[in-house]
Amino acid sequence: MTVDAVIGLQWGDEAKGKLVDLLAKDYDYIVRFNGGDNAGHTIKVGDKKFGLHLIPSGIFYPDKAKVIGNGVVINPETLMNEIKEVEEAGYSLENLFISGSAHLIMPWHKVMDGIEAEKKIGTTKRGIGPAYADKASRVTAIRVYDLQYEDKLKKKIEFIAGVKEKVIGAYGVEHKFNVDEIHSNLMEFKEKIKNRIVSTSFLLNEAEGKNILLEGAQGTLLDVDHGTYPYLTSSNIVVGNAATGTGLPPKKIEKVIGVAKAYTTRVGTGPFPTELEDKDGEKLRGQGHEFGTTTGRPRRCGWLDLVILRYTAMINGVDEIALTKIDVLNGFDELKVCIAYEVDGKETKQFPQDLEKLEKAKPVYKTLKGFDMKEEDWKGNLSSEAKEYLEFVEKELGVKVSILSFGPERDQTVMF
Ligand code: GDP
Ligand code: IMO
Ligand code: MG
Repeated sequence: MTVDAVIGLQWGDEAKGKLVDLLAKDYDYIVRFNGGDNAGHTIKVGDKKFGLHLIPSGIFYPDKAKVIGNGVVINPETLMNEIKEVEEAGYSLENLFISGSAHLIMPWHKVMDGIEAEKKIGTTKRGIGPAYADKASRVTAIRVYDLQYEDKLKKKIEFIAGVKEKVIGAYGVEHKFNVDEIHSNLMEFKEKIKNRIVSTSFLLNEAEGKNILLEGAQGTLLDVDHGTYPYLTSSNIVVGNAATGTGLPPKKIEKVIGVAKAYTTRVGTGPFPTELEDKDGEKLRGQGHEFGTTTGRPRRCGWLDLVILRYTAMINGVDEIALTKIDVLNGFDELKVCIAYEVDGKETKQFPQDLEKLEKAKPVYKTLKGFDMKEEDWKGNLSSEAKEYLEFVEKELGVKVSILSFGPERDQTVMF
């Protein structure tokens, strides 16, 4: 059995979806282990394009198993819509499996997200944070397994809805939940997925001789323990959680492929040392089409930050880097790359986990020459400037760039 993982190394949207679709041909199981429908993973083959939120990015391979692990929080409506959309497009989901231990995002989670977190953190308003909070609280949570026990579930919904109405009321918002409607929606969902409910721990550990690809959602700087707290999501994103979120033992994970854009983007609020609020930032946003897959919000853009990548590659034990969207850097005279921060007059190469310090961090840049590569030259005919950019990243990080992506299509990729 081979188990490898694809992990985002920035603030998400690094093109993990493209990478997973590209690599999927060599694996039998494609597995999501964290996050929920806050994720938006774009996969594109010719004129076929999907922005997937919950289903793993292996849909173009009907024979591969797609697995939603226990670490994921599932919005039933999103999943039902996504299954419908994918099946209507002609892709079989016969091999879609869902962990019974995964938690459900309920209507109150979305309401809570709207009043609580969204304004400060700029969440996707999908109820992700409140759902993970309830998972940790234990008493106000609903798991996929609970769907099987209709009467008990009804009582549970009644109890939780009552609690949530009071909690939401304490925020000055009046909200009534329709227990019957919520229950019948969940029963409809159960009918749709009942034959797919599994223990991912047994499914994956007993997949002898098979290859498993773990598909991370979000990016490491959004990890609730290791990211830019509190401006982040509520799940763990680091590769350690690929074990927790599936039931695979950590030592089974062999190769960790870290995915990084050749520049940096972020959606939502929070510190971003290399952010560009000028025409270079606009150029990156325009050339990179940097608008959210999930919310359509414009993404904040900035230069590549190697302080971030050194940190996130370290805590994920990254073996190889996939550098994506390198084509977006075309046409700049000069390219800046952040190699250190200046914090309180001192230079540091360590990413500050203390938010107060991170907010003060000023990037120290190395300026490299720009490039303007032709589409046909990315494969095998890199200009000396483009080569220098790549080699600089590899040298500073001490990790090999094994994959270079210069467009959204599968064949717009170079493997070294
Ligand atoms: P993910 O969340 O990490 O899967 O990334 P997203 O799908 O949210 O965002 C990546 C976007 O960039 C998608 O629209 C992709 O189709 C597109 N994309 C992927 N790789 C490349 C690339 O190398 N160059 C360009 N220009 N676009 C890319
Ligand atoms: P993928 O998998 C980019 C961001 C939100 C917000 C913060 C918290 O496509 O890379 P949440 O709704 O999770 O409570 O929002 O996290 N965020 C993402 N940003 N890509 C994502 O996923 C994201 N998922 C969450 O914008 O700042
Ligand atoms: Mg995305």
